[in-house]
Amino acid sequence: MPDAEEILGRAAAVIQNGGLVAFPTETVYGLGGNGLDPQAAKKIYAAKGRPSDNPLILHIAEMQEVFPLVREIPPAAKSLMEAFWPGPLTLILPKSDQVPYESTGGLDTVALRMPIHPVARELIRTAGVPLAAPSANSSGRPSPTQAAHVAEDLTGAIDMILDGGSVEIGLESTIVDVTGEDILILRPGKISLEEICRVVGEARLDVGVLNKPQKDAQPKAPGMKYRHYAPRAQMLLVEGKPENMAKEILQLATKAQQEGKKVAVLCTAENRECYGSLLCKTVGTRENEETIARNLFSCLREFDREDIDLILSETFREGAMGVAIMNRLMKAAGYCFSQPKEGETDAGIQ
Ligand code: TXA
Ligand code: MG
Repeated sequence: MPDAEEILGRAAAVIQNGGLVAFPTETVYGLGGNGLDPQAAKKIYAAKGRPSDNPLILHIAEMQEVFPLVREIPPAAKSLMEAFWPGPLTLILPKSDQVPYESTGGLDTVALRMPIHPVARELIRTAGVPLAAPSANSSGRPSPTQAAHVAEDLTGAIDMILDGGSVEIGLESTIVDVTGEDILILRPGKISLEEICRVVGEARLDVGVLNKPQKDAQPKAPGMKYRHYAPRAQMLLVEGKPENMAKEILQLATKAQQEGKKVAVLCTAENRECYGSLLCKTVGTRENEETIARNLFSCLREFDREDIDLILSETFREGAMGVAIMNRLMKAAGYCFSQPKEGETDAGIQ
């Protein structure tokens, strides 16, 4: 059997020759190509079926690799790099001429991230180029947290998959835009708003993080406008205190079953018993929200395999990762709550 070094060497050669390699990171699996090669970027968009106005994140392994890729590093960005790199933080910075517009979806900014996963770092080092790497799912599907998820979506469309087992975090990196007056979180992740504020003083969540995109609005992270993470079934989010959520879910489930629908519940360990014989997936425990983040995408994929018509899901507002979990759940559900939010219409969902 080839050893790890040999496999990494082969993967790096694929990247250097313009090919695509899926690899594990601490957040989700990425689909990597040479970030400085416009043709590789085109291949990434084609493999994922991703719209080409949705820019890619460039992944680096060492701090000095930032300099050739950017025009400047604002002081806040430097502080955030020192605090959180390597780790699940992506920074938006003004791009240099070295970064092709094909990788940035035509933008003058570039998203940079230094992952901490050893396989990701070794692959970047061995390939010797920044890796452009979106999540390694086909566009619109939940991000892959295991190599098998990548194979499910992209077999035949990419050159190689490096299997590093299940990822640790399970939700994509926190994206912070440091190019404007205000420091903005464009996508919430494991690194929370509070942690960012502790380093830079003031920062805030972009409006799109917990709100339905308005029709014709241009979100700051182009990817946030697309319907995402979506299971094939209709999904409905139920809010309230955990015990009230369970009651409402039971009522909704009974009604839907009477209409002949196959119903499933996305629940927490604390509430599992309330649902009796209903088909349930226990995503994790409220006591440790990291378990919910880690399992969310694979639960959504499992529902797809079971031909469900309606998923009723508990919601998670609390805790440091609550915002990130709700951001993904709201996108998965197309912003559908059991009780409609005031002033919202169906316009703008894509
Ligand atoms: O954890 C992660 O970030 C994973 C792993 C593989 O590192 N990658 C990932 O990439 O989630 P992707 O392409 O699935 O999501 C990147 C997001 C998109 O919403 C995109 O619009 C946004 O980052 N983005 C990329 N470049 C940007 C830029 N220059 N300005 C604003 N948003 C940007
Ligand atoms: Mg993605």
